[in-house]
Amino acid sequence: MNILVTGSRGQLGSELQELSACSDGHHFFFYDLPDLDITSPGHVASICREHGIEVIINCAAYTAVDKAESDVDAAFRVNRDGAAVLAACAKERNALLVHISTDYVFNGTSSAPYREIDPASPLGVYGVSKWDGEERIRRIAPSHWIIRTSWLYSVYGANFVKTMLRLGAERSVLSVVADQIGTPTWAADLAAAIMSMLGQYDKHSRYAGTYHYSSEGVCSWYDFAQAIMELAGLPCKVVPVESSQYPQIAPRPYYSVLNKSAVKQEWKLEIPHWRVSLAAMLAKLQHGAKG
Ligand SMILES: NC(=O)c1ccc[n+]([C@@H]2O[C@H](COP(=O)([O-])OP(=O)(O)OC[C@H]3O[C@@H](n4cnc5c(N)ncnc54)[C@H](OP(=O)(O)O)[C@@H]3O)[C@@H](O)[C@H]2O)c1
Repeated sequence: MNILVTGSRGQLGSELQELSACSDGHHFFFYDLPDLDITSPGHVASICREHGIEVIINCAAYTAVDKAESDVDAAFRVNRDGAAVLAACAKERNALLVHISTDYVFNGTSSAPYREIDPASPLGVYGVSKWDGEERIRRIAPSHWIIRTSWLYSVYGANFVKTMLRLGAERSVLSVVADQIGTPTWAADLAAAIMSMLGQYDKHSRYAGTYHYSSEGVCSWYDFAQAIMELAGLPCKVVPVESSQYPQIAPRPYYSVLNKSAVKQEWKLEIPHWRVSLAAMLAKLQHGAKG
C-alpha cells in the first residue's frame, strides 16, 4: 500500500518514519510543513495523486495546548479544518484515514477509564479543536480510524520526559502536579500499534472506528516524574503539588485514563506498561540522543 504520513517530523511521525525502514510491502511517503500543509486541499490532493496514496496517517496537529488558548484560529485551522481536508481527500480516493486524537476531548470528571462511547466534553481550545476534527472526519470519511492517545513522549521532539531529564540534572528539588491522573504513552509503541493495525487492514473493506490507545497502567504527572528520575539515576527530589499550586493557561482534565479494551480485542494488540516503555525510551535516548 502507498501510505502518506503527515506531520512526519513530529514525535509520532518520526517514530513511524523509523519503523517504516523495517516494514515490508508498504511504500511510505513522509511529509511535513512546508512541503505539505494539511490545511491546503490542493496541496493534499496533488501529493496523494502523485504517490497513489491509499492510506493517510495524520500525525500533523497544533499541539501547543496552552498557546492554543490565545492562538485559537490557528489551532482550529490545523486540528479541525486540516482534519476535514484530509477526510475529503481520503473519501475522494477511497482511502483510509488514520487520525490521531487526544484524551483531552474528555473533561476528566470520570473516575473510571474512558471508553470510546463516553461523551466528549473538552475543557480547552486544543481539546475542542481536536474534538471538532474528529467529528468532521466521522462525517466526511467513510473509512477512518480515529485513535485517541494520551501523554505522548518520544526520543524525538520536546516532551515531558525530556523536560524532566533537563530539570532533574539542573535542580535538586522539583515540584510536579500529583492530582492530574492519566497514562503516558511512548510514541514508538503507538507507531508499532498503527503498523500492526495496518498489517491486518483489508483495503477492500470499509472501516470506521474510534479507538483508545495508551500504555497500560495509571499514574499522576508526579508519579511519572519520579519514575523518570529513578530510572535515569538522577538524585533530584520530586515533590507532589496540587494543580492550584502550578497554574497553567489551559485547563486540563484531572482524570483522563483511556479504556483500551476495544483496540486490544479488535486488533489483538499487546500493550506494554508505561514504566516498561519509559525504561525502553530512556535506554534508547542514552544510546543516541535525538533533538
Ligand atoms: N503530544 C502529546 O502529548 C499528545 C497527547 C495526546 C494526543 N496527541 C496527538 O497525537 C498526534 C501526534 O502528536 P505529536 O506529539 O507527535 O505532535 P508534534 O510532535 O507536535 O508534531 C506535529 C507535527 O505536525 C506539524 N504540523 C503543524 N501544522 C501543520 C500543518 N498545517 N500541516 C502539516 N503539518 C503540520 C508540526 O510542524 P511544526 O512543529 O512546524 O508546527 C509537527 O511536525 C497529534 O494529533 C496530537 O494531537 C498528542
